[in-house]
Amino acid sequence: MKKIVIAIDGWSSCGKSTLAKQLAKELGYLYVDSGAMYRAITLYFLRNHVDWTDKKEVKKALKEIVLEFIYNDNTQSGEIFMNGENVEYVIRDLVIAEKVSEIAAIKEIREFAVAQQQKLGAKKGIIMDGRDIGTVVFPKAELKIFMTADNAVRVERRFKELYEKNPNVSIEEVKDNLEMRDYIDSHREVSPLKKAKDAIILDNTHLTEKEQLQQALEWVKARLLNTRSATDFLRSV
Ligand code: CDP
Repeated sequence: MKKIVIAIDGWSSCGKSTLAKQLAKELGYLYVDSGAMYRAITLYFLRNHVDWTDKKEVKKALKEIVLEFIYNDNTQSGEIFMNGENVEYVIRDLVIAEKVSEIAAIKEIREFAVAQQQKLGAKKGIIMDGRDIGTVVFPKAELKIFMTADNAVRVERRFKELYEKNPNVSIEEVKDNLEMRDYIDSHREVSPLKKAKDAIILDNTHLTEKEQLQQALEWVKARLLNTRSATDFLRSV
């Protein structure tokens, strides 16, 4: 059956990875969290005191970083490994979120990550979420979704997630972090966050996870109707 590429972009904490994981399960596609790559690079830089304002240091450090996604049967999702270490959980910390947008704005770092992302998508059958997936990584993706939700809802969702792991976290710092990242991500020179012209907007402020999945599956079906194998697909869903 013909497979497509699905690109999901949008603001921080608006449920991109939740939707991407749901779709991947439903369609049997590979899910790749591109943000995890920038977060893992940030972790490496912080741990190794890399001065990211120095291009030479950045280039040298990138040569020492190997990123892989390995499927975890228990969570039924890919987890990111950096130089053989599972860093899927540690990279979600606010300490990383505070620096990641600054680091993700660096051209050399984006080139390093984008090249790997494009390789992962070469065989199609992939769902990737991030900030520049529909505009830069897969500009020819058959389905592009641009996700958004009200600020207060996004802050509340991310706060709940972080609070479960660390009760010392405050809603103010989560809010500040989201606002700061959204600003840097959408104003940077290299591949800023913006809606691709052909992306469909999905505002999930008032949608349940089930409703957003149903909506996205409608779009997937519509895209596949344009392909010869649409009947095969519709039979399988
Ligand atoms: O989960 P959340 O939406 O908060 O963020 P994420 O997807 O984990 O991404 C973390 C950060 O990585 C973003 O704030 C961006 O600075 C950067 N990023 C990027 O520049 N390009 C991407 N394709 C994905 C993430």
